[in-house]
Amino acid sequence: MSFPMAIKPLIRFFKPEDAEHCSFLMQNHFRNYATNLSVEVRRQIADSRTTEYIQKIVTDRAIVVAVIDHKIVGMGGLKQNEIRHMYVSSEFQGKGVGSAILRFLEKEAYYNGFSSLIVNSVPHSEEFYKKNGFKPLINTQIERHGAKLDTILLEKLIE
Ligand SMILES: CC(C)(COP(=O)(O)OP(=O)(O)OC[C@H]1O[C@@H](n2cnc3c(N)ncnc32)[C@H](O)[C@@H]1OP(=O)(O)O)[C@@H](O)C(=O)NCCC(=O)NCCS
Repeated sequence: MSFPMAIKPLIRFFKPEDAEHCSFLMQNHFRNYATNLSVEVRRQIADSRTTEYIQKIVTDRAIVVAVIDHKIVGMGGLKQNEIRHMYVSSEFQGKGVGSAILRFLEKEAYYNGFSSLIVNSVPHSEEFYKKNGFKPLINTQIERHGAKLDTILLEKLIE
């Protein structure tokens, strides 16, 4: 838990007018922070995270946003029972926003009849998922724009 600095964002489902903000969150992450990837791959991924990309992914998964003072500061996704697209803008990280998004998505998965959540996490975020009750299962690799990315598959049982 993040008691000393915790702030309470509003978590709500994506609305069409959020697409630009979500695209910005993703692009900003890949342009400026995803240093586990080469500059070229980061650029390719950032360029692909357009508003059209967001409009496409919302057709087969739930996307939620975290709002503070009417500003979108984070997002997360749920495809079946898999957590996807977790991004919190850098100035709001470490304040409980990501955890609030996860709690919302966990409830959504529960209401949809799932008994577990899974996530393919980059090593950098493994601790965040562990602090939220996930247990590592296996080391994995995913491919993004031709680059192999080391990930850890984690699971959380929900009830
Ligand atoms: C990972 C991410 C979504 C976490 O969101 P957040 O709002 O910063 O997380 P919280 O403030 O709810 O953190 C909850 C706990 O996890 C810890 N934590 C969060 N990110 C961490 C990290 N990268 N390394 C170690 N611990 C981390 C926090 O310190 C906090 O611990 P505490 O309860 O002891 O205070 C956010 O840092 C982010 O957007 N990162 C960049 C994108 C990314 O890596 N996404 C995940 C792809 S799998």
